[in-house]
Parts: sequence; C-alpha cells; structure tokens
Amino acid sequence: MGVGSEKCAITIYRTSPNSLEAITKDLCGKMQWYMRCMMLLSGAFFLLYFGLQPLTELFDENSPADQDLEVVLINTSQCHLVGRQSPPPITRTHENVVLLRCNKLQVLFTDTRSDGNYLMPSQIFEKLWCKYWLYTPQDWNMEKLLGEGQFNLLPNEHEGFKVGSGRQTVRVLCKSAANEVKYHDVLLFLPPPEPDLIPEPESGDKLSVLILGIDSLSHMVFLRNFPFINSLLDYLPHFKLTGYSRVGLGAYENIMALLSGRSIDELDPDWQNPEDESGEAKGPHFLWEKFKAAGYKTAYGEDTAQSFADRTERWRFAREFPEFNMHPIMLKMDRHTRYSIDIREMIHCTAGRAFGEVLRDFITSLVPHFKNRLFFSFFWESQGVEEYYEYSRTLDVAYLMLLKRLEEENILNKTLVLLVSGHGLRKGNYRMSYQGMQEESEPLLIAIYPEWLKAKYPRAITNLETNTKRLVTPYDLHKTLQDVLHLDRIKDSHLQKRMKKLESRTGKKVPRGISLFLPIPDARTCDMAGIPSLFCFCRDLTEVPTDDGLVVQCSRFLVKSINQMLKPYPKCEELKLHMVLLAYFVDFGEESFIYELKLRVKTMPGEGVFEGTVRITDKMYLTSPVNRISRYLSRSTCVKEPYIRTMCHCRD
Ligand SMILES: *[C@@H]1O[C@H](CO)[C@@H](O)[C@H](O)[C@H]1NC(C)=O
Ligand SMILES: *[C@@H]1O[C@H](CO)[C@@H](O)[C@H](O)[C@H]1NC(C)=O
Repeated sequence: MGVGSEKCAITIYRTSPNSLEAITKDLCGKMQWYMRCMMLLSGAFFLLYFGLQPLTELFDENSPADQDLEVVLINTSQCHLVGRQSPPPITRTHENVVLLRCNKLQVLFTDTRSDGNYLMPSQIFEKLWCKYWLYTPQDWNMEKLLGEGQFNLLPNEHEGFKVGSGRQTVRVLCKSAANEVKYHDVLLFLPPPEPDLIPEPESGDKLSVLILGIDSLSHMVFLRNFPFINSLLDYLPHFKLTGYSRVGLGAYENIMALLSGRSIDELDPDWQNPEDESGEAKGPHFLWEKFKAAGYKTAYGEDTAQSFADRTERWRFAREFPEFNMHPIMLKMDRHTRYSIDIREMIHCTAGRAFGEVLRDFITSLVPHFKNRLFFSFFWESQGVEEYYEYSRTLDVAYLMLLKRLEEENILNKTLVLLVSGHGLRKGNYRMSYQGMQEESEPLLIAIYPEWLKAKYPRAITNLETNTKRLVTPYDLHKTLQDVLHLDRIKDSHLQKRMKKLESRTGKKVPRGISLFLPIPDARTCDMAGIPSLFCFCRDLTEVPTDDGLVVQCSRFLVKSINQMLKPYPKCEELKLHMVLLAYFVDFGEESFIYELKLRVKTMPGEGVFEGTVRITDKMYLTSPVNRISRYLSRSTCVKEPYIRTMCHCRD
C-alpha cells in the first residue's frame, strides 16, 4: 500500500463524513485523482476490515509449514496436476522492480465538468510555455486533429484551462524559459454518458462480459503475489479454473483462440464468413463482432502500442473497431511521450504515470458507461509482468480497487468478469527451473459471476464448478462466451439436451472446444483439448541423459527444423546445436507406441535456449511450436514476424 492511501485512511478516522470530501480533495489533488482517492479510501477500509488474514499470510510467506503445500490443479482420470505453493528458487533481478516509479512530474490532470473538459495544473515550479493538440476518435488507430493551441502556466497555478468537450485526447508539450522540455504527455477525456442518454437498466437477465487480462501470470503466481485479491474473492461468487491451459506459445496465440475459437494456424486471412461448427450460423467470427452485432457496446485497451490488435489487423479484427478504444492513445504515447524506468526498458511511462496506470485509469473512467448497458470489454496489461517475476505484486492493490469499484457500482451483478492470462512467465531464471517451466503452461483463469446466475441456471453453474478441476482451454472459453450471448441455451431444460448430446460423443468426436457450462469430459486428454505436447503436463516426464544417442539425434532435428523456418529470412544466421541442456521422455502410457522427447537445447550463435517436442515414428516431427526461453530482443530486430523473431539471430 502506498503512503498516500494510509494518509487517507487516517483522515477518515478523524473527521466527520461532511468534511471528509474536502480533505480528500485537498490531500489527493484534483478531480480524476479524486476518484482514484475515493477508491483508495474504500480499499483501505476494506483491507482493514477483511485484510488481516492476507497480511499475516504475507509475513508468513517463508514459514517452513508452507514449503510443501500443494494445490490440486487438475484431478481427472487422465490428468492429475498439482502446483506448489512455494515459489521456485529464483535469482532476483538486480533491480528492485517493485519499487520503480515514473520519475517525471505530472504537471496536468484532466477534469470533465458539466460545461466541458479542463486541464488542471499541479506541481508547477517555474513558468512554462505549453502547446497542445486536441484529437477526437476517428477510426481504429487514428484520431482526428480538432485543433491546437497554446497557454502558459505560472508557478502555483491552480485554475484549469478549458480545452473542449466530449471524448477527446490531448497531447501537451511544455517548455521552460530555457527552452527545455519540462512536460510532455498525452491525456484522455472520457466523460460519463450524458444523463438523458443513459438507457433504463436492461430488463431481461443479460450478462456483460469484462475480460481483465494480466500477461504472463500463472495460477500459482497469482496465489503467491495477489493476497488482497485472493481475500476479496472470498466475498464474491467465483470459480478458479485451475486446469486452464494454454494452446499456443504467446499471449497473442491464446487470445486469438479465445476470441475466434481457432488456432493461429487455422486463422485464414480470407476467412470472411465461416460456418459455425454446428453448421447453422454464418456471420462474424470474432467474439468482439458477435457481441457488437447483438447490441453490446465494446471496449478495448492494452498498456502497450505493440498490441494484439495491431498484429490482428490483417485478419480484419479492426473492421469493427470498438466504441471505446485505447489503441490510438497508446500509439500517441508510444510515439511522443514514452520513456522507460527499468534497465531493460520494458516498463514505460508518460509524464508521471506508468502505461499500466493509464490503462487502469481508462477502465475506471469507463465504469459509468458500464452501468445500465451491455458491454463486451477486453483489457490486457503486460508491461513489467511479462518481464519480471516480482512485478505482478504491484498490481494486487490496483486490481483490488478496480474490482471493489465495480462491486460498489453494482456492475458485478450483471457482468461475468474473467481474470485471465495467456500463459505464465516465459523469461528469466525462474523459467529455467522445472517448476517455472510447468507454471508457464498454467495460466490464470478466474470467473466472477453474479449470484443470481446460480439460482437461474443451477445446472450450468454446477457444471462450471465441476470444470474447475478439469483440463480447460481458451477454445472452451470461446464457447462459453457464446453461451453468455444466448443465455437461454444454458437453461436447465435446454442444457440437459446438450449434455446428452455431448455424452454420446466419444473419442475423436468430442469437440475441441466445449462450453464451460457443460461438463468437460473427465477423460479429456491434451490431444482432445487441442493442447500441444510441449504445454501438456498431464503425462509423466522421465529425465533422460542428454548424451543419449537418440536424444542428440532428436536435438539436431529440432535445430534443423528451426533453420527450416528461418530459411525464408536471409538476414537470420543458420543456427547450430551447441548443447543439449535437458531431455525428458514423455510417457503416453503402457499401451501406447508413441515415442516422444521434450528437449531443451542451446544454439549458436546467440546462445538461444529453445524447447520443443520431437515425436518419432518412422520419421521425426515436431508436435509443438518451438519455445524460446532465453531473452532475444536486441539481436533479432531484423525481422518483424513475431514467431520468427524469437528464433532469429541477425547477421552483423
Ligand atoms: C480426485 O478425484 C478423486 C475421484 O474423483 C477423488 O476421490 C479425490 O478425492 C480427488 N482428489 C482431490 C485432491 O480432490
Ligand atoms: C442483481 O440482479 C438480479 C437479477 O437481475 C436482481 O434480481 C437483483 O435485485 C440485483 N441485485 C442488486 C443488489 O441489484
């Protein structure tokens, strides 16, 4: 918890409710920040009230009793998987990333009043000459320039400047008398909906969807690094789907599986009007578009400009851009005002705010819009978390506040919230351990649902509960969210028929993606669920010597396959097998004749460390994508294609 919130908490304690507001404003600055302070205030109370347990847990983190604690993640006839409570031994990064803060001044804040948008000054110590550019949303990644202007700021200035009204973005550049840039920032005005435009609350029981993604977060790391949210969950109806598995390498591959129900290889750029696998409906294929077509408002945001959406444009994801879209704002920050605070330059700030904070502010400003309307919203936070094991700790309180706010505004009563990740941490020493390797394939999935859902759809919710210990994938989530769009399909009467139909299917006829409102078959295997071998930890692994003849042969094949993929990219050097670091024999059961090895190899030049699975029948072939687990960014900038980039070592 920050010092600021403690101050706020003490203030509450000593003042009457009437003066509380004034003091909060005084303490915490202006307007939008006032909102955040109110969140911090309620959060502080909340923590005092509920938080004693997680606090003591925090202090107990290293007590010997915890060391051997195990959590059952999957418990089926085909798969039994446990996670260990204690973290693997990791070598800390030499930087304490948890303490990093943006180090430039936040000279201006935004405030939306009834008569328009205001820029509010703060922390001004000398006279500044400022220019600003004002934009309004236009299309997917562009904004329309509405105009530009100038103003001066004097020390201790408190009056705001009106810059327009409605939804706007403003870029501001301020210089001192010595012509030095003192402040450069992109700010967003996202006013609440006009009162007369707010529709009556939806009458029928429909559900909004809020996907809150945190990148590179495994279920076990969530249990370790998010004590506050874990204790909040005790008070919200939810399920932790601990058997959630990834089906692709990166967040992008898994997000695409969630949004489209297809794997990356199956996504065809010309796939315009696909048939539903049931053969009935033609129409939009991304969930996004489906919800939009059903009258839902859509919102999208990420804390980086290198967004999924940018990579997806070629699949025309952007055809229907969302009503509330953070992408152009992120692009502007990335281009004009970005700077890094960590040595690896993976955590970005604009003025006094981290990109992650900008994203969370965006979500918070949308809260009034979420009320009384149906929403499909998708947010993804990746900066810091995707690079550093410890960093996710800094998000615990932030997301606690957000969930608390949604609860207070009664939005949780009509929303399915998915706290989700694409995979666990993919980098660093943590990842080199066996536990880290396993946790990489055990992403987070928590579904928070309204209480009334259980009374109305008892069978569906019972099934969902059963599925918490089954093997589930993003393909299942895709089906689940389609059911959310048509809740009549999960009424008991209808569901019973669907369950019969599902039970009648066996073996290869069981669909790959199954709605989580149906019982996922106990006998489901990774193959049936579409989980590539490398990401499957249901099978027993037996470590084998790295100098075994077959191991070396398979490792050579793995490197040869990498070189084959690199062939169309002449800027990349051919890789040579330098060393076999690890080899496991994958046990498919006694009656199986499958012979498969899971390998970790080091290649030269570049000392890339790769993992892959090689299966041997009459010939050898890869059964999974190749996973680069060592860092690579600086030497692979000569290619754009993200997958190839992980393998490429650019020629000098
Ligand atoms: C795993 O499942 C079996 C059979 O369904 C059950 O008896 C057992 O208690 C379960 N174990 C755990 C730890 O949940
Ligand atoms: C939550 O929603 C249900 C169903 O729409 C409604 O009956 C109930 O009154 C709501 N609860 C609150 C606290 O608004």
